[in-house]
Amino acid sequence: MTEEKKSVPRHIGFIMDGNGRWAKAKNRPRSYGHKKGADVIEEVVDASFDHGVEAVSLYAFSTENWKRPKEEIGALFDLFLEYFISELDDLDKNNVCIRIMGDMSAFPEKMGRETDEAMYKTRNNTGLKLNIALNYGSRAEVVRACNALIERGKPIDEAELMNALYTAGLPDLDLVIRTAGEQRLSNFMLLQAAYAELVFTDVTFPELTDERYADCIREYQRRTRRFGAVTE
Ligand code: FPP
Repeated sequence: MTEEKKSVPRHIGFIMDGNGRWAKAKNRPRSYGHKKGADVIEEVVDASFDHGVEAVSLYAFSTENWKRPKEEIGALFDLFLEYFISELDDLDKNNVCIRIMGDMSAFPEKMGRETDEAMYKTRNNTGLKLNIALNYGSRAEVVRACNALIERGKPIDEAELMNALYTAGLPDLDLVIRTAGEQRLSNFMLLQAAYAELVFTDVTFPELTDERYADCIREYQRRTRRFGAVTE
């Protein structure tokens, strides 16, 4: 059986962890860590394009993050809005196609308007596909997909299920990178990550540099992917 060529991952998922710890170590509020994290996203987008990655999925706000203090949630909302308002033109110029994954109905209306605008404006772009998970949980995504499919009233196959997820039309995740030392998926893209390589790095997300990102891709390239088959 031939091994998959050690190539650039087509689709990378990021569990952007450690913003709070990074800020705390600097005696700053957690929101300061999120702000720095948003700056790092810009670098990740540029570097992903340079590496030739097709799609990047970012875990920005999970269905479980509502349990956080109100002030932190508010600061995150402000940051998301600021990102969509201030970065949209540049992302569009750079041919980035934005997709939001998650239930936006729970967010303030303004955020829904900005994210709709971002998706609409960049819908025909053919460069990097940037998926941002907001109020996202993998289990909720599967339930949503199943409810949509149930209406057909007939058995479904795997391809139909995968096509009913937010990531319809995108390749499965090849690589999931989680920063800040924890080693779990935390309800992030569980079906899309079925055969993904998992790379955990101790650096917090705000500290992630182009070099550390490249190290994660190199670690992925050292792995042998067998997809359940055997190597000669
Ligand atoms: C987890 O770190 C991070 C988050 C819940 C938020 C991720 C958000 C960003 C990187 C900011 C902006 C995003 C966009 C799309 C503009 P944590 O706070 O749980 O870290 P900790 O484990 O150290 O507490």
